[in-house]
Amino acid sequence: AKEISMAVVNKQPETFERARKAVVIGCGFVGSTCAFALMESGVFSEIALVDAHANKAEGEALDIAHGTPFYGPVEVYAGSYADLNTADICIITAGSAQKPGESRLDLVARNVAILRSILHDINQTSFDGILILVSNPVDILTYVAARETGLPAHRVFGTGTILDSARFKSILSSYLDIDPRNVHARIIGEHGDSEFAVWSMANVSGIPLMECFKNKNINNPSQLMTDIEERVRKSAGIIIEKKGATYYGIAASVRRLCEAIMRDEKAVMTVSTMLDGEYGLSDVALSIVSVMGINGIEEHLPAPISEEELAKLRASAQTLKDVIAQVS
Ligand code: 2OP
Repeated sequence: AKEISMAVVNKQPETFERARKAVVIGCGFVGSTCAFALMESGVFSEIALVDAHANKAEGEALDIAHGTPFYGPVEVYAGSYADLNTADICIITAGSAQKPGESRLDLVARNVAILRSILHDINQTSFDGILILVSNPVDILTYVAARETGLPAHRVFGTGTILDSARFKSILSSYLDIDPRNVHARIIGEHGDSEFAVWSMANVSGIPLMECFKNKNINNPSQLMTDIEERVRKSAGIIIEKKGATYYGIAASVRRLCEAIMRDEKAVMTVSTMLDGEYGLSDVALSIVSVMGINGIEEHLPAPISEEELAKLRASAQTLKDVIAQVS
């Protein structure tokens, strides 16, 4: 028993004493659902909600806090930018949402203006944590935030295509009748219409996807592959058409991302990140395959994509660069 207690004592005492704190900026559907998912996860000891409408933040915080007896101790409260002085992670969800029929890129002018005012307020604090962009168009906002805060690039990134990769896995898993956690398949590029599936790397626990299709008697999968990719690309639009907004999927994505960071998991995820020569691209933020841990992006993995996929990645980068040119 003595040895066990020594082991506990020797294990990073600060993790027991220090608050683990997230600040969620923007308490609309996405921000409040993210805060709820983070409360459930137990990775933070404090979650502060900030919104331009103080009542909204207070109401959501109270509502979420009332669930804590069923999960575990976490303080959920309406806070302010001053909370960033002691925060590990800041999650920006503020901004206008897409209306039915709008693309994510249609939101550019409105949401860049909102982001710049938030960054101004963040820059008044001593925030020195990890900044996660969730609002859309997430790749453009990630680019602006990476350029306009003093934080190092590995600590400013967007949720990017984490959700698209999850949608891709979940659809594939239903065709293959396999646990989606065993499906390793990714969407990269813009979180938007120019995103694409990296079919060349897709596998089920190391077994190439094409073998798994054959196993299910899907012998000529090319039409199915086109349809699946299209379903992923159109998912958000379909959900917005039907219920006005998407928020559960992104909240689950933010929760997983924060877990990977706070537990220093070195988990592989497709976050939107500033490129600096990867795939011959730079001065643009989009999703590639990264390793996530306590430092944020620990590294970009050199995923060997096909020539055709590389052309798609370049086209996606160009789409984003054209928008960036209008913003700057
Ligand atoms: C989504 O993909 C709209 O970006 C949001 O659900």
